[in-house]
Amino acid sequence: MPRRLRITTVVGARPQFIKAAPVSRALRAVHAERLIHTGQHYDAGMSAVFFEELGIPAPDVALAVGSGAHGAQTGRMLEAIEADLAAAPPDAVLVYGDTNSTLAGALAAAKLGLPVVHVEAGLRSFVRDMPEEINRVLTDRLSRVCCCPTEGARAQLRAEGITEGVVVVGDVMLDALRDTAARVAGDPGRLARLGVTRGGYALATVHRAANTDDPARLAALVAALGRLPWPVLWPVHPRTRAAMARSGVALPSTVRAVEPLGYGDLVAALQGAAVVLTDSGGLQKEAYWLRVPCVTLRAVTEWTETVDSGWNLLADADPDRIVAGARTVVAAAADGALPPPEAYGAPGAAARVTAALDLLG
Ligand code: UD1
Repeated sequence: MPRRLRITTVVGARPQFIKAAPVSRALRAVHAERLIHTGQHYDAGMSAVFFEELGIPAPDVALAVGSGAHGAQTGRMLEAIEADLAAAPPDAVLVYGDTNSTLAGALAAAKLGLPVVHVEAGLRSFVRDMPEEINRVLTDRLSRVCCCPTEGARAQLRAEGITEGVVVVGDVMLDALRDTAARVAGDPGRLARLGVTRGGYALATVHRAANTDDPARLAALVAALGRLPWPVLWPVHPRTRAAMARSGVALPSTVRAVEPLGYGDLVAALQGAAVVLTDSGGLQKEAYWLRVPCVTLRAVTEWTETVDSGWNLLADADPDRIVAGARTVVAAAADGALPPPEAYGAPGAAARVTAALDLLG
């Protein structure tokens, strides 16, 4: 029997809630977990809906740090997480991905001499001015246990001199997706409620700072969506909605902007889409697993296996490449020319993360 550990987990942004759903369940079957929600995402549609829908345990601590400049936001988290960890020191601190909440959790723990477990370690875009790249490079460096989704991620850590405590567990998002896909598959009413018909629309999401904070780039992306041969369903992230209002970008008539979707609706919308256009890392993988062709609205991706397989095509913010790319990848998928999605391992990554905690000794 493994020792029963006390793990403090730090989450704060939407993709972390999704990852925490399967991992918290697996973790709590063996160990004790205390959950800190930094409050980086605070709108009900960006946070509470995921806790309710996915049955994530209520946070033990809600820090409510909210939005702000990166230094200010991360600093507020750091101070509050440190106080919590110091008051009740756990055996380890677990963090996910690459957000400011990830870095704050890892740094607070490391400064207190507490081991850090990083889930989704070893990914790189090699774009050093991207906030997520800074967060993930530093978090990997601070971690005692690095749970990698792929062998490529493990090789990247090795290239950076990180070899101890590295384990390939697969991708925990696959566990979350499978649970939800099974739940929504029997509910065809969801697409009707979203106002779309199966196979007859494109799904789009845009939220990366590089895409939202440059008005010319944002305008090019929106124009490209308007030139697609499908109507577009676009759940709009609050950062993007604010950027659209600031820069006065108008929506083409074929593009329908809606509020951010809960996870069940998002998965249903993805399952029914002819193609997805996104700058989200999570959605690139979810599309791949569900065999939905994808065009990524970035010049690079951390999830290179999706591109190598042919299911995902990098089109940056170039309208011609986006429109032509969507047609190409949809045609390749329709021809049955693309391989089955196997790159991110078998389901069960959440259990393998729990098993990796044995490396803490
Ligand atoms: C963050 C992560 C990004 C992740 C994304 C998932 C960092 C640096 N970025 O980006 O890696 O892919 O979450 O969504 O950590 N806002 C609201 N309500 C909310 C949350 C945000 O209105 O509930 C608005 C605020 O105006 C805020 C802006 O969105 O300033 C950006 O939010 P923030 O959490 O700082 O970054 P994201 O763009 O969501």
